[in-house]
Amino acid sequence: MKIIGTGSAHPKCAVTNEMLEKFLDTSDEWITERTGIKERCVISSEKLEDMAALAANRALENAGLTAADIDFIICSNVVNEYVTPALSCIIQGMIGATCPTVDINAACAGFVFAMDMAEDKLKCNKAKNILIVCAEEPSRMVSWENRSTCVLFGDGAGAAVVTQGDDLKAIRLTTSSLTEVLYYQRHLEPTPYIDKPEEFEPLVMKGREVFKHAVTNSCRDIRKLLNETGLEATDIKYYVLHQANRRIIDSIRNFLGVEEERVPHNVERYGNISSAALPALLDELNRAGKLQKGDKLVFSAFGAGFTTAACVIEWGI
Ligand code: UT7
Repeated sequence: MKIIGTGSAHPKCAVTNEMLEKFLDTSDEWITERTGIKERCVISSEKLEDMAALAANRALENAGLTAADIDFIICSNVVNEYVTPALSCIIQGMIGATCPTVDINAACAGFVFAMDMAEDKLKCNKAKNILIVCAEEPSRMVSWENRSTCVLFGDGAGAAVVTQGDDLKAIRLTTSSLTEVLYYQRHLEPTPYIDKPEEFEPLVMKGREVFKHAVTNSCRDIRKLLNETGLEATDIKYYVLHQANRRIIDSIRNFLGVEEERVPHNVERYGNISSAALPALLDELNRAGKLQKGDKLVFSAFGAGFTTAACVIEWGI
């Protein structure tokens, strides 16, 4: 597998901490100190698929390909307006592709899970070019009356075009069924036969537990990958980490013992945009000209499930 193009898109409505202070018992000081987030972009008039298609088209353009060149689309998404059809089907039509598509849900770790699936398809010659689109609107999962959760998230999309190559050096995926620390139970239509208690509530999160799992498991994943590839922490140009909380990012960086410059972040501008965080940050680095051929990158993310995923990539373009 080799990444040959990246793209991203964010909603136009930027909600600052000061705006949240107006209707929540919170403060810019608390949010900044505990999370590093200063603002997040939240869907207002846009539809998620519009952002997903925009990110996808930008990635295609960056790769120098058209939708006709794509053999498979993998869309990572937790929630959107449609339960069916899959978001990937909607994106396929919007960008004018004709290939098969599938949606996956590995929560915030979805981008790396999608890369793993893409690698398998490319390796066995079932596809030449694959489009990965991560599109998320967690702002629609939280209660905007709950200061513990709604301040943390934003919406957005990130995409990457991958092709056959040898740039994926190592990858590691994990799932542990820890369903009670982070979940969102959706409302289903009633039937005349349902006689079990059903609860529908906005996103529930045990923040401190998630924090601990995130740091412990991400450090473990990255350490294992470095050992497997024989790389030192300082051989990695950038650690592209899940953008959930600046304190989590800093804890992982401290564990690795690397300088700040190696751990880029944009959580302060976008909040946690779930699986879109990694490809969106990668796109920023790519478009800023910060990636050189041969650079070693680590991607690492964690999410509800509990899922974790990490990989080592050698940048090849
Ligand atoms: O993709 C995965 C998604 N989730 C995460 O990555 C979340 C991981 N966890 C975290 O990022 C942190 O645990 C939080 C940012 C959610 C919370 O930070 P914390 O340092 O763990 O705070 P806490 O949960 O210990 O809460 C401290 C206090 C509580 O008040 P009491 O009970 O001590 O009186 C909260 O009610 O802060 C209160 N609090 C707030 N205060 C002002 C919670 N949210 C807010 C808020 N503004 N927005």
